[in-house]
Amino acid sequence: MSLAMSAVFTVCDAVLSDAPAIAEIYAHHVLHGVATFEIEPPGAEEMAARMVRLRDAGSPWLVAREEGGDVLGYAYAGQLGPRAAYRFACEDSIYLRHDRLGLGIGKALLSALIDVAGASGFRQMVALIAAAPGTRPASLALHARAGFSPCGTLEAVGRKHGRWIDVHYMQRPLGEGSRTAPRQEP
Ligand SMILES: CC(C)(COP(=O)(O)OP(=O)(O)OC[C@H]1O[C@@H](n2cnc3c(N)ncnc32)[C@H](O)[C@@H]1OP(=O)(O)O)[C@@H](O)C(=O)NCCC(=O)NCCS
Repeated sequence: MSLAMSAVFTVCDAVLSDAPAIAEIYAHHVLHGVATFEIEPPGAEEMAARMVRLRDAGSPWLVAREEGGDVLGYAYAGQLGPRAAYRFACEDSIYLRHDRLGLGIGKALLSALIDVAGASGFRQMVALIAAAPGTRPASLALHARAGFSPCGTLEAVGRKHGRWIDVHYMQRPLGEGSRTAPRQEP
């Protein structure tokens, strides 16, 4: 399914054969960034297992592909917590190839993810954005631009690359949000 298209890339559902490219993109951010609190990059097999878990739960996993098929970035939304009452709240994750930042790919992925996650029944989307104190990562601007509101900061809850790392929470409703009850209770 093609969800969005620009002159240079298309946003569509990920397939399992994307797992090696996705693992490679993520590995860069694990090793060099603070956006994720993982320290050891998962391999392609583990990434495929994560994709299967999300797919089996009915949650979206999208990729941005350039002409020719290479994966430029990916985004997914999984249930915010494992317990049943979290059924209608999801957390998003977005990672781009490190040489393709700032080109509008993140914005296209997040916009498509918001649409698909809402259509799949989620009513709230939450972003946990890690940042070294005093820094403003692109993810904060990306989420603000996509309608997320700031809802608090956990200070110094992470330790990575020899620094304390804060986690900023942002949230936006999806679809009817909390204005109506879901069709089925958890
Ligand atoms: C965060 C990330 C997904 C954003 O994707 P992107 O393609 O680089 O961002 P876009 O080009 O779509 O820009 C989205 C918005 O953020 C702004 N932005 C982009 N890079 C920015 C930066 N370095 N500093 C401040 N704002 C920035 C853009 O100006 C744009 O806002 P606008 O529409 O008002 O101009 C990408 O930078 C990334 O993969 N970063 C590393 C991993 C990460 O932090 N993931 C998020 C985990 S929560």
